[in-house]
Amino acid sequence: MLNIAVLVSGGGTNLQALLDAQSRGELKSGKIALAVADKPGIGAIARAEKAETACMVIPRREPGFEDRVLAAFREHQIDMAVLAGFLGILTADFLRGFGKPVINIHPSLIPSFCGRGFYGLRVHEAALEYGVKVTGATVHYVNEIPDGGKIILQKAVAVQPGDTPETLQRRVMEEAEWKLLPQAAEMVAAELLREKENRQ
Ligand code: GAR
Repeated sequence: MLNIAVLVSGGGTNLQALLDAQSRGELKSGKIALAVADKPGIGAIARAEKAETACMVIPRREPGFEDRVLAAFREHQIDMAVLAGFLGILTADFLRGFGKPVINIHPSLIPSFCGRGFYGLRVHEAALEYGVKVTGATVHYVNEIPDGGKIILQKAVAVQPGDTPETLQRRVMEEAEWKLLPQAAEMVAAELLREKENRQ
């Protein structure tokens, strides 16, 4: 099995979806070996602790954030990383230093409403402001361009009359994010595992 790290910045409902998929045996090619929270006190930490998953707080605004994350990844022998509501932007140096796949969930249909400045509720505010009738979620590989890496999975979600950013966010999470992220994580882990076995 592979070791998966999950980076979080908020409530951690996407981390929960991954942990639940793991308990149901749907995320089976890798184990969630480490959660990294980029600030103290966020909901995601309690979720990791409840699931008895190793969890570290590494404040993103402090110097040396990326080096500390890389050191934690080495210590836990991490094979792939999942950004599950992680609101920072990882540098090309970090991605090169890790040298293994990193995937991200974004709450829109990329290439709409993505890139720098589009995160969390802001994405749904922008979608409503534009007046789109369909939005959704995307899981993609992370590269040096914010939300610019190769798409792995996407799912569309209808905008309903009277939606607020909050109601739309909730529907996108329920109908798309919480299904898509575990599914994509398993796809990527299974492929990595096959490659690892072929090398042995
Ligand atoms: C999720 O909607 C996730 O897609 C989004 O933040 C929310 C985190 O919720 N991520 C981004 O906007 C990344 N650009 P969670 O902490 O409950 O998983």
